[in-house]
Amino acid sequence: KKVAILISGGGSNMEVLARDMTGDHPARPCLVLSNDPDAGGLARAAALGIPTAAIDHRTFPDRAAFESALLTRLAEDAPDIIALAGFMRILTPGFTRAWQGRMLNIHPSLLPLYKGLHTHARAIDAGDAQAGCSVHEVTAELDDGPILGQARVPVLPDDTPDTLAARVLIQEHRLYPAVLRRFAGGDRTRLDLPPVVNIN
Ligand code: GRF
Repeated sequence: KKVAILISGGGSNMEVLARDMTGDHPARPCLVLSNDPDAGGLARAAALGIPTAAIDHRTFPDRAAFESALLTRLAEDAPDIIALAGFMRILTPGFTRAWQGRMLNIHPSLLPLYKGLHTHARAIDAGDAQAGCSVHEVTAELDDGPILGQARVPVLPDDTPDTLAARVLIQEHRLYPAVLRRFAGGDRTRLDLPPVVNIN
């Protein structure tokens, strides 16, 4: 199976996914594509020997034109799966329909809680005892598709959005590779990771 990974920033999730796709893993990364030509993840992907591309959304007159360019570039590699990893552009129903059932995303909240942005601040403001991340299939509605796995962390009394984000990111790096490995092998059963003890 070939996996295209879409990023917008540092690409830490992309990196753990790429590093996991070796040996008997049923998939390999075929492309890392960013909507931001300055995304740090592009250099990390190149260092891993993965082909990269940047399609700057700001150079297109509208979302449809940008997505048409994405689809054209993706068609060159014909991936079996798209993994959104820190990809910060909303995709239209046209795009999500074309890839329905073959596109995953990682979202830094315990969906269905906190769809959209600023998830950690919202969990802290709500006084939640737990937070975490979710990997889900991408559908037309934002952050709403079938959940393929979750990982939880405690919210600590002195947490800021940044300290909570850092704790959640560690779990993202555990969860996403495990879910993608299953998904690429045709297994869509949900994988909820057990909490890591003495987490800080
Ligand atoms: C992180 O905040 C993560 O929660 C979300 O995207 C952001 C950047 O991730 N998935 P990455 O380091 O670019 O993978």
